[in-house]
Amino acid sequence: MSTNVRPETMERITTPELAAAFIEEQVKEVRAQVGDKKVLLALSGGVDSSVVAALLIKAIGKQLVCVHVNHGLMRKGESEQVIEIFRNQLDANLIYVDATDRFLDLLAGVSDPESKRKIIGKEFIEVFVDEARRLEGIEYLAQGTIYPDILESVKQAEGKKAVKSHHNVGGLPEDMKFELVEPIKLLFKDEVRVVGEALGLPHAMVYRQPFPGPGLGVRCLGAITRDRLHALREADAILREEFDLCGLAEKVWQYFVVIPDIKSVGVKDDSRYEGWPAILRAVNTRDAMTATIEEIPYAVLHKITDRITHEVEGINRVLMDLTPKPTGTIEWE
Ligand code: XMP
Repeated sequence: MSTNVRPETMERITTPELAAAFIEEQVKEVRAQVGDKKVLLALSGGVDSSVVAALLIKAIGKQLVCVHVNHGLMRKGESEQVIEIFRNQLDANLIYVDATDRFLDLLAGVSDPESKRKIIGKEFIEVFVDEARRLEGIEYLAQGTIYPDILESVKQAEGKKAVKSHHNVGGLPEDMKFELVEPIKLLFKDEVRVVGEALGLPHAMVYRQPFPGPGLGVRCLGAITRDRLHALREADAILREEFDLCGLAEKVWQYFVVIPDIKSVGVKDDSRYEGWPAILRAVNTRDAMTATIEEIPYAVLHKITDRITHEVEGINRVLMDLTPKPTGTIEWE
């Protein structure tokens, strides 16, 4: 599928049957394209790269080499889930790189959001390239490009400005030339999910809320410190657990915790306790250009507040951000 334009006649993939037909066709195409050569994939664990991985495992098995870079800014349990599903269940050729120290050392003291994004994006490529250079005989690079990415790059080529730079896997160095394998590049997100389920990926992974490339790095506001990042990861895990329990996880487009670099005075165990506030955000949107606020029942908010303030070291208050986009953006940085 070398065209970058979705044919008008292409049927929308809405059912398991249509997904199965798409998978069969792509398996054939990928085999024809790569033959017995090796293919490299940066597997973040997001929907798109996971679906590409599962599709390529079906097509070429161990000829696919997946590299999962843990930049230390993943949500709780995410890297473990990638290892469990791809290495343990699907028997993938998976290289796991824990690069937490590399990223956090570089980010120490950096408070400007765009500088943080640039460091994370650049370092991500460097870690990935370091791993790729160690491997022999790789001729292809698989990518989880989807149709909106192609439409977005067309828009940018036409000179329209983005509000924030979105750095995920950018360009590789000049001397690393791979041919691209992009099996889902003509699909919209909803179709990618139907294909993911047909490939047997877990529902939670396929319907995962969007998570920015720089991960928790843009939610631990200002200069990232390990203790505040840890508090953020734990608080975020509680929010996700409680949203799962009350059914909001299925309903809300994106929900997360943000922790600013400020402390307030509070009290814990009869003593003065200076802590950070955890800010909750839960938004709905169609295209992320504008967003509205989900109304969370007070009982749910009370429970989350109680759990976060009692279970997470360093947090003494919980606040709810009720700002739609505009005037807020979805993320705080
Ligand atoms: P904003 O904050 O601009 O976010 O309203 C819109 C959507 O984009 C996500 N986002 C990012 N995604 N890399 C990404 O891959 C980034 O640097 C980035 N910044 C924001 C955000 O989570 C929301 O879904």
